[in-house]
Amino acid sequence: MLEAGDYFVHPLRERDIRELSLVPRGDDVDGAVPTNVETPPLALGGDVEPRAAAWQRLDVFDFDFCPLADGHCADHTRPEGRRPNNAVGRYQNALALPGRSPDYRGTPVTDKREYTGDYQDKTLYLPGPTEVREDVIDAMAEPMFGHRMDRMTDLYTTIVEDTREFLDTDDDVIVLTASGTEFWEATTLNLVEDRLLVPTSGSFSERQANVAERLGKDVDRLTYEWGQAVKPDDVRAQLEETDGGYDVVAMVMNETSTGVRNPVEEIGDVVAEYPDTLFVVDAISCLGGDYVDIDAHGIDAIFTSTQKAFAMPPGLAVCTVSEDAYDREVESESASWYGGFQRCLDYYDRKGQTHSTPAIPLMLAYRTQMKHMLEESHEQRDQRHREMAEYTREWAREHFGLFAEEGYRSQTVTCVENTQGIDVAETIEAVSEEYDMVFSNGYGDIAEDTFRIGHMGEHTVESVKELTDAIEDAAGL
Ligand SMILES: Cc1ncc(COP(=O)(O)O)c(C=O)c1O
Repeated sequence: MLEAGDYFVHPLRERDIRELSLVPRGDDVDGAVPTNVETPPLALGGDVEPRAAAWQRLDVFDFDFCPLADGHCADHTRPEGRRPNNAVGRYQNALALPGRSPDYRGTPVTDKREYTGDYQDKTLYLPGPTEVREDVIDAMAEPMFGHRMDRMTDLYTTIVEDTREFLDTDDDVIVLTASGTEFWEATTLNLVEDRLLVPTSGSFSERQANVAERLGKDVDRLTYEWGQAVKPDDVRAQLEETDGGYDVVAMVMNETSTGVRNPVEEIGDVVAEYPDTLFVVDAISCLGGDYVDIDAHGIDAIFTSTQKAFAMPPGLAVCTVSEDAYDREVESESASWYGGFQRCLDYYDRKGQTHSTPAIPLMLAYRTQMKHMLEESHEQRDQRHREMAEYTREWAREHFGLFAEEGYRSQTVTCVENTQGIDVAETIEAVSEEYDMVFSNGYGDIAEDTFRIGHMGEHTVESVKELTDAIEDAAGL
């Protein structure tokens, strides 16, 4: 019998525990157990075959890691003395019924820590958020105005059309108050009736697949080892095998967890041979710092978050929408409300505004930064990012190694293989303390085996060199 507070781990992944169902405390335990698995969890025990929709029961007291363990916080362990079964928020297994949410209120893991405003500024070499120009920050400090005023139409049409020009596309553009994650959901809801293919090769592509599953879609994964790139021929083979039977191929262009840049252009050309299959690209950690010809490679939707290579504050998401994608959504019965292409774009066409109240200060910042980006030009920006990536790789080769497959390395994030066995957490701390610079540890399972340098946005070879000098000093290289 299930008991309140029990956890179940879904063993589809060999690598680690990524998906997890939390059974709520209280009387309605049964109500929260996923019912659309082929075999109910209670019937299982012992060794179970992956893909048999099997669930393993975990002793709650063995739980010693963050239950939101999709790789994003490997070091987020259970605080001393806390029982794990009341220490976490809600996280439903991907196979849970869409829309079901356990009636569960967890005891917070973290106590309130007052924000004092007294913090040392750090230079950010993270894979986002990244450095933001001062005049872009200043642009947010304007007196507020209404989102239905003419002034808003001026602002929103300016940022949309400037973005379209920058991205060099004839497709429609949406700038939405959300982080890019919103477009994982929206593109799935808007474009996938039944089935999609998601190549997975790291934590973010895993999550992209996970989101689609969570939304009740039939997801086929094309799985690669972390660090490997998605290969166009594999995508072709999969499409051939299913006779193009996918509504969408959805993939991550720049796998931020591994530093791999996938060849979306070639894959787009393959998908374009299947007219009923649309191509969706998460370019969250590279768009704006790695040029991609959207229209030439049949990309139906490509999206990013503003805090990455656009070098803006976080809080806005940008997505392009092809005519085919728009038409598909019009036919769809499951389209997203908030991220619905039709709603966003029709509102734009009729009023030049957004369907609901946007983050106006962020849009003011966006306007200022997009002018800088146009002035520099997409081509020059791409070139600057290429030079930063080449410098960083050369430095990494000299002192360490590179995690991503040769020939598929990111222009915006380098994932350095820790061949010297330095203490990554300690080095990050020392660089932060002594140099006021911040870079990232590795992601999930490769947290200590790698570290990541974000060379995106407004950084230059010179500024990246300042960081690598600091790392050399702190790590005694
Ligand atoms: C490739 C990729 N996809 C999705 C996300 C999620 O983006 P956001 O937190 O802006 O929604 C990230 C964040 O780092 C990412 O790198």
